[in-house]
Amino acid sequence: MGPKHIITTWRVPYFMIKIALIGFGVVGQSFARVLSQKQQGLLDNYGLDASIVAISGRSKGSLLVKEGIDLEKLLTSFDESGTVESYPTGIKGLDSIRTIKESGADVVVEVTGTNLETGGAGLPHIREALGLGKHVITCNKGPPALAYNELKELADANGVKFRIESTVMAGTPAVNLGGETLAGNRILGFKGIINGTTNYILTKMEQGGDYDTALSEAQELGYAEADPAGDVEGWDAVGKVVILANTLMGAHLKPTDVEREGITGITPAMIEEAKGEGMRIKLIAQAFLVDGVVKAKVSPERVSVTDPLANVNDTMNALTFTTDGLHDVTVIGRGAGGVETAHGIISDLIAIYR
Ligand SMILES: NC(=O)c1ccc[n+]([C@@H]2O[C@H](COP(=O)([O-])OP(=O)(O)OC[C@H]3O[C@@H](n4cnc5c(N)ncnc54)[C@H](OP(=O)(O)O)[C@@H]3O)[C@@H](O)[C@H]2O)c1
Repeated sequence: MGPKHIITTWRVPYFMIKIALIGFGVVGQSFARVLSQKQQGLLDNYGLDASIVAISGRSKGSLLVKEGIDLEKLLTSFDESGTVESYPTGIKGLDSIRTIKESGADVVVEVTGTNLETGGAGLPHIREALGLGKHVITCNKGPPALAYNELKELADANGVKFRIESTVMAGTPAVNLGGETLAGNRILGFKGIINGTTNYILTKMEQGGDYDTALSEAQELGYAEADPAGDVEGWDAVGKVVILANTLMGAHLKPTDVEREGITGITPAMIEEAKGEGMRIKLIAQAFLVDGVVKAKVSPERVSVTDPLANVNDTMNALTFTTDGLHDVTVIGRGAGGVETAHGIISDLIAIYR
């Protein structure tokens, strides 16, 4: 369960928060770095005394320090050794499930790799944590794309929160913008550019390159994986569309329900033809209510240059919500990166204790 509300006389309430961090790759390490830089600000501005008490990182080792890990010391020793187990004190060698069970954490931050077919390691991690009455924050798309409703019900039954802001567009507000900031509006649909890798490739092609050259450049810059299928065939965007549709529009979609076409068939000639007609080709992820049913699709679309989405280039992301009250609301920002994702996790952490 959540921590106790300890002091009420201070300007802001004071909460001591113990975090178990599951996964210590790009996002896990960034989260530890960002938290170490922001710990004092969280305390001063929000009354949150947040510490990481456990890290489980598979090949990066595991560490449990009940009184809280000194993050500067941890990051220095990790940078030298490549394992969190080089930290001088604490319990080492627990697996991820034992870490969740034995950490004494109030919040589990789950940042292991995404698997959109099975939910991967993240699904059992999140079920375990919620079942034990711990809040969960994740940027891992697999579990919410496959089981959002189940996990939300489990969280509700245990009196805790399940927060997923950074699963879509990293720290740029998307899930919480639609679900909280736009409260009172009905979300009738949304369309957006929510995969930075494909947007980078299409931008380079628009500037005159062919698909293969643009893909190699994206791989050299670390934007695309060695096996780029998840991005270029649209699966990453499918996971995000499902999350947005299910959390914001009450849909019950699975990734396989989404009509999907990637960008591998886009040629320079198609881009030139679109350009001649005042259009750009973008990989658009969208969902709309059609006769009371939510229909979702990810596909390359010709977008007029006057549409805000047409001018979102390189790895930038954007999302336009269509609402009954405010009509179209568009947010543009970075959709990936360890630090950006870590900020989405921090915003969820603050939201839980608000
Ligand atoms: N990077 C981004 O910009 C970004 C943005 C938004 C969302 N995300 C999502 O955030 C998640 C993490 O991304 P990432 O870039 O940090 O990936 P990553 O660098 O591959 O890190 C994932 C880490 O999870 C660890 N892991 C896997 N199974 C585990 C288990 N059972 N117990 C403990 N640790 C386990 C892996 O350990 P090993 O080292 O042993 O493989 C790896 O270090 C993914 O789901 C991704 O889709 C990433």
